[in-house]
Amino acid sequence: MDSLRQKITFGYYAIGALIVGLSLFAFVELRLIEGKVLAGERISEFFDTTLEIRRFEKNYFLYRQSADAEENAAYVARAQRLLQDNFADFSSLTEAARIAVLRDALARYSRLMAEYVRMPVSGAAQGDALESLIRKAGKEVVTIAEEIARVERKRLQSSLERHRYSLIVSIVVLILLVIAIGQVLSRMVARPLKQMEESMEAVANGRRDQIDIPSADREIVSLTNAFNHVLQELELRQKHLVRSEKLASLGTLLSGVAHELNNPLSNISTSCQILIEELESADPEFKRELLAQIDEQTGRARNIVRSLLDFARDREFKRETLPLAGLVAETLRFIKGQVPSRVAVVTDIPADIEILGDKQRLQQVFLNLVKNALEALEGAGEIVIRAVRRGAAQAEEAPGRFKFLAQCNPAEEVVEIEIRDNGHGIPPEVLPRIFDPFFTTKDVGKGSGLGLFVVYEIIEEHGGCIAAESEPGKGTAFHIRLPLNKAETGLT
Ligand SMILES: Nc1ncnc2c1ncn2[C@@H]1O[C@H](COP(=O)(O)OP(=O)(O)O)[C@@H](O)[C@H]1O
Ligand SMILES: [Mg+2]
Repeated sequence: MDSLRQKITFGYYAIGALIVGLSLFAFVELRLIEGKVLAGERISEFFDTTLEIRRFEKNYFLYRQSADAEENAAYVARAQRLLQDNFADFSSLTEAARIAVLRDALARYSRLMAEYVRMPVSGAAQGDALESLIRKAGKEVVTIAEEIARVERKRLQSSLERHRYSLIVSIVVLILLVIAIGQVLSRMVARPLKQMEESMEAVANGRRDQIDIPSADREIVSLTNAFNHVLQELELRQKHLVRSEKLASLGTLLSGVAHELNNPLSNISTSCQILIEELESADPEFKRELLAQIDEQTGRARNIVRSLLDFARDREFKRETLPLAGLVAETLRFIKGQVPSRVAVVTDIPADIEILGDKQRLQQVFLNLVKNALEALEGAGEIVIRAVRRGAAQAEEAPGRFKFLAQCNPAEEVVEIEIRDNGHGIPPEVLPRIFDPFFTTKDVGKGSGLGLFVVYEIIEEHGGCIAAESEPGKGTAFHIRLPLNKAETGLT
């Protein structure tokens, strides 16, 4: 049975067969009882007939009416016929000798009665003797008939009881069997579904990226395949999303970089002009100084271009040790050009904090968060980027509203980074959705809704977690927890 449908069909048939079996059994039982009841009726008919015989006998003795004598004779004949026809019924109830006695008594009775009827009324003494002989024979007949009837009644009663008992037993057995089949069936059907559910949960929690279940059921197999296909498709789509978001950030960076490059270029240009004008007059020391400046500024420009290229290049996830302060400073430099004059960006990051991560991706995290903060500030305010190192014990006692932050890396030493702005904040009904892909409150063309989604993905990729808190009108803070570079903390 390699499909759920077959299993269920099998269960139906099994229960159906049981019910048919029980019905047949009950039917046969019923037929048996019917037979016994019919036999019982015949026996009691015989008994009734013997009583009638005695009744007409008594009447005849009293009134001497020939009609009574005829009735009596007719009942005697009927009793003899009944005994003859239902010999089997009688012999099953009593011994053959007793039946023989009965038959003889009947025959004797019939004979004596005939004799009595033929006798003239005058012979009183002879008549009395005959009467008593007849009564004796009649009594014998009734006694034996009654005896047989009693046995028959008893037998019918006990067999009824037996049938009732066996019917109850078989109904109980049927119910138990139906329950057992139901149990087995539901286990057979439910087990693969349960496994599938567990497997899907594992996928949802990110513990696994494909569902696989050891089930041979055709439906489950095709469902699993379809689900895995969807998962693959989702992963592919997600990669596309992340990529498109990255392209958008690249646009932002480009304008920042252009701005950034302006400084060294104008420095170089100024130095060159001075050199051209004073090539002959200036002393060699001054000229050397200018050339050194040109060299330095060229280096600066090269660095800027290099970090842009670094960011733009599509790379596999690469873990390296990164000084956090440097990483943040470099990222901020990219967007310096976009920071309005009335916005202050303050960083407070201990110089010795090092994290283990992918530089490009982490830069993207800071870039997206700072960009959002800038957009929330609407031209004026403050952005604070702070980082602290937290030990395992401290990490556990994170504030209640960041429960899930506490769940992430509670056993390790972590770095907690906070990016806070005093912008317009996020309304509480919006807060739970900000990490969803394509969720944006910004105008069409301004926000893609992918920034925080990508941030979330990257932080997860690093084994960290992120949470947001916000008070509308006052500002927003994002809290990130990332594993520290262990080599540096001496925990390895
Ligand atoms: N620092 C912040 N202050 C206020 N709102 C924010 C902040 N960061 C994110 N948001 C809200 O979260 C939404 C989603 O952000 P994001 O994923 O970066 O998409 P986008 O910036 O394209 O709208 C934003 O539209 C905004 O409403
Ligand atoms: Mg954004």
